[in-house]
Formats: sequence, C-alpha cells, structure tokens
Amino acid sequence: MSSQKDLTRLLVLEMVRVTEAAAIAASTLTGRGDEKAADAAAVEAMRAALNELPIDGTIVIGEGERDEAPMLYIGEKVGTGGPKLDIALDPLEGTTICAKAMPNSLAVLAISEAGGLLNAPDVYMDKIAVGGGLPDGIVDLDNTVAENVQAVADAKGKAVGDMMVCVLDRPRHAQLIKELRELGCGIKLIGDGDVAGVIATTDPATCIDIYMGSGGAPEGVLAAAALRCIGGQMQGRLLFRNDDERARARKWGIEDLGRKYSMTELASGNVIFSATGVTDGDLLEGVHKTAAGYTTETLVMRSESKTVRRVKAVHGPK
Ligand code: FBP
Repeated sequence: MSSQKDLTRLLVLEMVRVTEAAAIAASTLTGRGDEKAADAAAVEAMRAALNELPIDGTIVIGEGERDEAPMLYIGEKVGTGGPKLDIALDPLEGTTICAKAMPNSLAVLAISEAGGLLNAPDVYMDKIAVGGGLPDGIVDLDNTVAENVQAVADAKGKAVGDMMVCVLDRPRHAQLIKELRELGCGIKLIGDGDVAGVIATTDPATCIDIYMGSGGAPEGVLAAAALRCIGGQMQGRLLFRNDDERARARKWGIEDLGRKYSMTELASGNVIFSATGVTDGDLLEGVHKTAAGYTTETLVMRSESKTVRRVKAVHGPK
C-alpha cells in the first residue's frame, strides 16, 4: 500500500461499507411516509462511516450549503486523514421513493482525487444519457429530441417506435413527453431517482435506450461518475430559475452559466462509485430485513479499471 493509487483502490470495499450503512439506516424508515426522517437516518449513518475512513475527504456534492445542512454539507471535511479526495454523495437518492416504499431509492457515493468532480450548485440540470457501445457524440443536448432518438435508434438497429426513453414524470417535461409520444416511442416515466434512471441506460435488461430531461445538478454529477465507470455517454447543462440560483453557481466558480458539460467534464477524475439499493429496483435489490439481520446489494465500480462489482452482503442485527 505504498502509493495513493493503491490506497484509493483499497477504498473500494470501504465505500461499499459506507453506502451499505446509509442504505440500512434509511431502510428502517422505508414506507413510513417521512422523507425527512429517512434522509436524516441515511445522512447520519453515511457521515459516521465516512469519518472512519483513512482519507482527507472534502464534500463537493452533499446535503447542501453549510447554513442549510448540519451534516455532510458542501466543504465539510471527512475521514481520519490520508489521501486528499473529493466526495460527491447522496445518502438517500429518492427520499420520496423510500418514504412511499416505491422502487429504486439508493444510497450513493462517488470519490475522486481532489478536483475530479464538478462542484455543481443545487439547481436543475438538463441531462441526456445513453449506455455504452454507441458511437461517440451520438446524442447532444443541442440536437432536437427527434434527432437524438433517431440517432440512437439507427445505431442500435431499431425502429424509433421500439425505443424506450426514461423521463422524470414532471409537468416541466410536458413538451418533451409530447414530442416523444409524437415519435411513437415508449416512455418510462419515473416518479423520482434520476441517478438510477441514467444508470438504467447501461443495462440492456431495463430496455431503456436514452435518459432525457431535467433533474438535480448534483444527481447529474453522481450519474456522470457512474457512467465514467460502467460506460456510456452523458451531457448536462445547468438550468437557472432565478438570479439567486445564478449567483450560487458563480459562487462555486462557474462563469459560463450556459455551458454544456460532457460526462468527463462533470466527473473528470479517477472515480470510484458505489450505490446500495434501499428499496428494490431495476438496478439493485433493496435492503431486506431478515431474522438474522439485513441483506444488501451494492454496485461498486472504478473508472480507471472499469471494474464493475456487485456485492451482496449479509449483515448481523444492528
Ligand atoms: P431527492 O432524493 O432529493 O428527493 O431527489 C430525488 C430526485 O428525483 C432526483 O433523482 C432528481 O434529480 C430530482 O429529485 C428532481 O427534482 P424535482 O423533484 O424537483 O423534479
């Protein structure tokens, strides 16, 4: 364990422990109708687990700014000392999903060397993503919806009418949904959880060909970190609803507010990504409580080696 690289590699299993801890904590409140309590449980457990790691970690994507988030706020230092790492996290991605015991809520964490993850403000981001094995630049936020769908359909040798596009079910997506319906493709409307939605494009079993639409910018960075490891393409562009949001972006050093970010600009470093299922979903099994304790399933992967591991674990009672 001589170099920082070796140490970072050894962190893979530690990261699994961190997202497992958050997922188990959130799972105790699955289906209880209380988003805040489930999120708070996940945050507390993730923070405690991160603070046991031999790292000098700085949260760059977290629970919010210091004045609005008491724990895991942006800029908070975590770990007992070691390599300097940037951390993007969402202890409970899909708080409403968890509160309603619906599919696909996750505990999510990504790390990279310092400077390797975009410091994205908590605003919306327009996103487009596809899985691996497609020609570079096949989709582009500046193309029309029809052009993007047609390009992916052609590359996959499918008819446009056989394409499936994943979109967050929101009134702001009415025009996007209308255009997709006019093209005749299928739309998988998800209630929440676009990190899982983006990752789903990489798994043929989900039948999702493209992810489109706007969601949280922090979730955009986490999704890009995942695609860096598992393969795929993504673009993101920040969306601002008012001057306050623009000011927040400038505060984080973003000068070109209309910039279109590629996947590698969102997550440029050597990344490790870990996600543990909280509720059962397309991507991962959720936490199951058993007579002996809990079972978890985690997807953990590294961009450098492109290793993708699924870790099923049995945990004793807490
Ligand atoms: P939370 O875990 O913070 O509830 O986020 C869930 C989520 O669906 C994200 O996956 C997505 O990026 C964002 O909310 C979309 O925001 P909005 O609900 O405002 O459309």
